[in-house]
Amino acid sequence: MNIAQLQQKINELKKQKDVCILAHSYQAHEILEIADFTGDSYKLSVDASKVENKNILMCGVRFMAETCKILSPEKTVYLAQPTAGCSMADQMDKQLISQVKEMYPDYAVVAYINTTADLKTICDVCVTSSSAVKIVNNMPEKDILFIPDCNLGDYVAKQCPDKNIKLLNGGCPIHACVNTDDVKKAKAMYPNAELLVHPECTPEVVAMADYVGSTSGIMNYAVNSDKKDFIIGTEISIAEHLQYMCPDKNFYILTQKLICPNMKATTLVDVYNCLAGNGGEEITLDDKTIKDAKKCIDEMIRLG
Ligand code: 13P
Ligand code: SF4
Repeated sequence: MNIAQLQQKINELKKQKDVCILAHSYQAHEILEIADFTGDSYKLSVDASKVENKNILMCGVRFMAETCKILSPEKTVYLAQPTAGCSMADQMDKQLISQVKEMYPDYAVVAYINTTADLKTICDVCVTSSSAVKIVNNMPEKDILFIPDCNLGDYVAKQCPDKNIKLLNGGCPIHACVNTDDVKKAKAMYPNAELLVHPECTPEVVAMADYVGSTSGIMNYAVNSDKKDFIIGTEISIAEHLQYMCPDKNFYILTQKLICPNMKATTLVDVYNCLAGNGGEEITLDDKTIKDAKKCIDEMIRLG
């Protein structure tokens, strides 16, 4: 079976079984083509809460499927590839953050959406990379404990100078690997290109960028810009998707280190197998976890 035939079977099966397919922008091109909704973590979480299908199939990583389940507990939510975790979300658990909260009892806890459902139950508000600055600015509290990403937290702290933001030592190992030498090399190779980076990169790399934003932010900026050449400082699939969307522009990968093995774990065959009932994983969360975790996701939607 070739890719087009497999895609046709997936499209037939999803209609038959009343499944809405969500795909994060870091997924492969052939997966985005069969998805009903694509986008960044924030957009997908809102899309998931509005769909009418009985079933949701997430092509992305586990915390994204958990977020869908929290927002739509009456739906059956599947993660297409059960091994697709997120190295950042796995860094901090409820036990650790409960101890940190004891050290900072008056601080509001802001959790990046890249956290487990279990950890979200003890946080005050969630943010995504596209909504973090707006939400933190809209919060009444001045003292904020921002978890787990210290790079995104540093970026938010610089944009919200009136807030007192405490950071922990967590983050995305893929984005944090990019260094200033990588940037200098890419800029030397493509001197006319603008550098667009995700705020999960280090503050030194962020300081060298022409634009900083979420995956959707980067894509919108590049599509709407009058410029022709761009160096893309986030997962490499974004450069590929942009090249399809804007064939007259040039998109260069900042460094080949920017490959997320978790996001690359899902294949079109996984999507087919999950729809056919031979793969994937149904996400189950107990009622209390859903109720408690939903509070901070609802706060994100209210303030964002
Ligand atoms: P976005 O919020 O930009 O979708 O990013 C999610 C993510 O995992 C980035 O590494
Ligand atoms: Fe998690 Fe980083 Fe992969 Fe995003 S790129 S899913 S933060 S490991």
